[in-house]
Amino acid sequence: MPEVTLFVEGEEAMAAFGARLGQLTAGAGTLFLNGDLGMGKTTLSRGMIRGLGHQGPVKSPTFTLVEPYEIGPVRIYHFDLYRLADPEELEFMGIRDYFEGATLCLVEWPEKGQGFLPKPDMVINISAQTPGRSLHLVPRSPAGEAWATELATEFM
Ligand SMILES: Nc1ncnc2c1ncn2[C@@H]1O[C@H](COP(=O)(O)OP(=O)(O)O)[C@@H](O)[C@H]1O
Ligand SMILES: [Mg+2]
Repeated sequence: MPEVTLFVEGEEAMAAFGARLGQLTAGAGTLFLNGDLGMGKTTLSRGMIRGLGHQGPVKSPTFTLVEPYEIGPVRIYHFDLYRLADPEELEFMGIRDYFEGATLCLVEWPEKGQGFLPKPDMVINISAQTPGRSLHLVPRSPAGEAWATELATEFM
């Protein structure tokens, strides 16, 4: 499957990229967002959630672990697993229910939940560039491959 690296400069551009990706998912799928603190995982997630029509605030789920959104028929779960001490805690949270059916799951710090998360459609690795960020898109399903191909033509 084709991997793609794109460069995105600035918070607004990051949100716009997220909005487009959100539309491409049509509100279904699983994305893993990797990158150090401050790389823009939440900014990208906010863009996706807004791109699917959410109009209120999108706060970081750092302390709640997960924030749910309902936009018409679309259900989004935005996870930040940074503070998860043990991946097994996800079982007690009822993690399976979140991934059941047509939901969009955005997961910051997925490595903290290793072994307890389903396979993603796409992994996005974000790293710092001067200026901006590089986004390395790694598709892991046919849907993810379609998104990556489309994003490459639009943002390259
Ligand atoms: N593509 C980008 N280029 C430059 N700055 C960015 C970009 N994306 C996000 N930022 C900035 O990075 C900072 C941290 O973003 P945040 O989304 O909270 O990161 P994370 O969730 O990875 O910790 C914010 O101040 C945001 O404006
Ligand atoms: Mg974050």
